[in-house]
Amino acid sequence: MSDRVVLVTGAASGIGAACAQVFADHGWTTAGLDLRESATDTAYVADVSDRPAVAEAVRGVLADHGRIDALVTAAGYYEEGIDVAEISRERWDRMLAVILGGTANCAWAVLPHLLERGDGSMVAISSELALAGSATDLHYVAAKGAVLGLIKSLAAEVAHTGVRVNAVAPGPTDTPLLAGDSIWREPEYLATLPLGRLVTPAEIAGAVYYLVTEGTAFCGEVLSPNAGAVI
Ligand SMILES: NC(=O)c1ccc[n+]([C@@H]2O[C@H](COP(=O)([O-])OP(=O)(O)OC[C@H]3O[C@@H](n4cnc5c(N)ncnc54)[C@H](O)[C@@H]3O)[C@@H](O)[C@H]2O)c1
Repeated sequence: MSDRVVLVTGAASGIGAACAQVFADHGWTTAGLDLRESATDTAYVADVSDRPAVAEAVRGVLADHGRIDALVTAAGYYEEGIDVAEISRERWDRMLAVILGGTANCAWAVLPHLLERGDGSMVAISSELALAGSATDLHYVAAKGAVLGLIKSLAAEVAHTGVRVNAVAPGPTDTPLLAGDSIWREPEYLATLPLGRLVTPAEIAGAVYYLVTEGTAFCGEVLSPNAGAVI
């Protein structure tokens, strides 16, 4: 596996960093794309909502490593406790541009390479909230739900070429995305979860790695490690 290359967006923190780590642990070469430097074999700084910048970064990965075998799109952000009336046009546009647009921009940049080789895999990070809904933050939830539509359609379109596309929809996960005073960290909320705890970034990364490597029958599927939040 040592010649295999994974490109992980959002690799500088949390779930993206854990994904890069699990691939590195299995001997893959890791490339990270983030707003800031990531601790990957090579790091590319770009905003995933900027389609030309993403294309430029992907050209850099291919120039530096010669190939991409897997794409993991984990770049994203969250705005907690936002009621619908607080979702300004700017807030809506930015969320859709980063979460949905960012995923699409990465797919547009990397898929031609995968399709040319007739091999490879993409895993997009969505959210358990896309499955369950949420009483707040509907811009985030709508964007994460749209990612699932994108992934399912893309999977159906390219599967015959040998390229597989899937999603992982994490439940509340212990990363800097959840502020220290986040409601998702409160004991009262955790007590409602069958597993009674947050998910770890490594557990999400394990699901991603499985889909890329052993999960060869998964196509347009959504795995949701969520501590039982959605059963
Ligand atoms: N932590 C959770 O509870 C949770 C739950 C469900 C889904 N998710 C999703 O998992 C993904 C990773 O989140 P995390 O918890 O690791 O958060 P995190 O804040 O630890 O990491 C997110 C990373 O994405 C990068 N990033 C943000 N906007 C970017 C942009 N426009 N362009 C490039 N990079 C950008 C950040 O710099 C950061 O390194 C996100 O898409 C998030 O929505 C997280």
